[in-house]
Amino acid sequence: MKKAKIAGVGFHVPENVITNDDLTKYMDTNDQWIQERTGIKERRWVTRGEDTTATLAAKASRIAIERAGIEPKDLDFIVFATLSADYYFPGAGVILQRELGIAETEIGAVDVKTQCTGFIYALSMATQYIETGMYKNILVVGAEVQSMALDLTTRGRGIAVIFGDGAGAVVLQPTEEKGKGILNTKLHADGRYAEKLIMPVPGSHAGYHNDKLETPSDWNFSDARWGNTFINEHMLTNSMIYPYMDGKYVFKMAVTKFPEVTKESLDAEGLEVKDIDLFIPHQANLRISQFVAKRLGLPAEKVWNNIQRYGNTTAASIPIALAEAWEAGKVNDGDLVCLTAFGSGFTWGTALIRW
Ligand code: ACO
Repeated sequence: MKKAKIAGVGFHVPENVITNDDLTKYMDTNDQWIQERTGIKERRWVTRGEDTTATLAAKASRIAIERAGIEPKDLDFIVFATLSADYYFPGAGVILQRELGIAETEIGAVDVKTQCTGFIYALSMATQYIETGMYKNILVVGAEVQSMALDLTTRGRGIAVIFGDGAGAVVLQPTEEKGKGILNTKLHADGRYAEKLIMPVPGSHAGYHNDKLETPSDWNFSDARWGNTFINEHMLTNSMIYPYMDGKYVFKMAVTKFPEVTKESLDAEGLEVKDIDLFIPHQANLRISQFVAKRLGLPAEKVWNNIQRYGNTTAASIPIALAEAWEAGKVNDGDLVCLTAFGSGFTWGTALIRW
């Protein structure tokens, strides 16, 4: 069976830089708290009306497509990882297809919603299509506009300071080169922790999972007076439309699952941590990345971190980091590149690539 290779990479982030000091205009926070806890110095947020998740994705995709030596019309399929699509439905994949000017080709486009692990899941799915020979040019994208779903008050500061907007894309193609390409992908999830990192609205749960929700006690999803709606005035006025995170629990699980799945991926190929040339972790939090690198015994020069400049861009973080590392000359022919993610769900996974 043929392997899939990454033939082109690209990324795009909005021009609008939001520093930690800028956030103090909205909430009681400070640069020192944010940097010490997360490593983030600044992030990019879209200017309302100028960009959406799909338009950021289109900009990143055009770069990846050109570097792969093809044109948008040559694509066979689109896999789009995001938790912040332009619309609740349809998914961002079809909007991206339209933005790329290739709607007339009628190629398929699917959305993947596994949050921070989204790009790994998307890459894994696309890999199967290449390996079976079903498609030859697949666009795999991770993109987010999260700045529009943040509580920019002191109440929301624990989450609002972490997240950024951006997009990264790759083009997958088959390769005949022995030993090269995506060696394996490993995917995992554990739904018992679904409510540890969650944005509960809009949704159909209407209080069904109330015993599992750890969200603030004044968040009431089951009040029948509000009728059968995904979102209502009560939810809006009580800040129930924002994400909730048990940060300490996420930290604990992340630093366990990142190394575990990385080793699973290496073991499957008879490889060891020392064989990795470049480790690209999902940019959750600089402290998480440093903790994981230490646990694995990876030296700092083999780990790509850019959360300092972009914040946590969820499904976009790995393809942005991969494209940036490639542009910096850190990804070379024959290198063993390991992409690893952990996120809401909980979901986690790895893609091990011989470049
Ligand atoms: N600025 C200033 N103070 C703040 C801020 C802020 N932005 N946010 C919270 N605080 C305050 C809290 O109100 C609290 O004050 P109190 O003691 O007076 O009540 C104090 O700081 C400590 O709050 P904690 O929530 O306990 O802070 P913690 O030390 O746990 O740090 C953090 C929070 C950074 C989120 C941490 O839990 C962490 O690193 N978690 C890992 C999860 C993570 O990074 N997730 C990223 C997204 S998920 C993913 O990508 C997988």
